Amino acid sequence: MVKLQLWLLVFTGLSGAVAQTDLEGQAFIFPKESADAHVVLEMNCNRPLQNFTVCLRYFTDLTRPYSLFSYASRAQENEILLFKEKPGELSLTVGGEWVVFTFPENAGTSRGWEHVCASWESATGIAELWVNWNPLPRKGLQKGYSVSNRGLVVLGQEQDSVGGGFDAKQSFVGELTKVNMWDLVTAMSDVRAASADSQLPHSDLSCDDLQYQIKGYVVLKPLLR
Ligand SMILES: *[C@@H]1O[C@H](CO)[C@@H](O)[C@H](O)[C@H]1NC(C)=O
Repeated sequence: MVKLQLWLLVFTGLSGAVAQTDLEGQAFIFPKESADAHVVLEMNCNRPLQNFTVCLRYFTDLTRPYSLFSYASRAQENEILLFKEKPGELSLTVGGEWVVFTFPENAGTSRGWEHVCASWESATGIAELWVNWNPLPRKGLQKGYSVSNRGLVVLGQEQDSVGGGFDAKQSFVGELTKVNMWDLVTAMSDVRAASADSQLPHSDLSCDDLQYQIKGYVVLKPLLR
């Protein structure tokens, strides 16, 4: 079980080995629209991914489209893309193919923090999207595909090439926190528990231990309470 945990500044190679750092309880603030502000993390793992779960929390007042999580490899600029098309509509792209999920963005949440988890399983192609811990009807894409083990994860911008090809009109403006990625399709109850102690199943995936880098105008601050 490998957990990519940007908000804790660690990329763990073993289950249960999550180091606590002073980044817990903090958020990346993307203070204004730009074509360069982003957070980047290089992925370099020992084998491709057949299953994954990505979760994050964000807070924004944007109504135009924007990228939430962009993973690009040399072979495929949209290996994994979580993209907000408009309020109440999120798309998940895997290996260049995409599905759209719609959900009621009710008054209580549209102006507050939104929690999103997306998962995908190669064996069936089934994708799940959970918004504020509520599942949406499952969809399918890219059955049998493998997600590249080498590439760049970018937060705040959508990659049209590895680490570049950004468009200000797809940039994220707002706050982003608790960005996690697991190499398995995990039950949401496990995801919740993982925030506390990260005791999840072990796997043979191992990845280089790399820290994220902030590029351009992105500020790390404690979460507002
Ligand atoms: C991916 O998940 C399926 C079932 O969900 C499992 O059988 C398979 O072993 C997993 N693959 C890897 C490489 O972990």
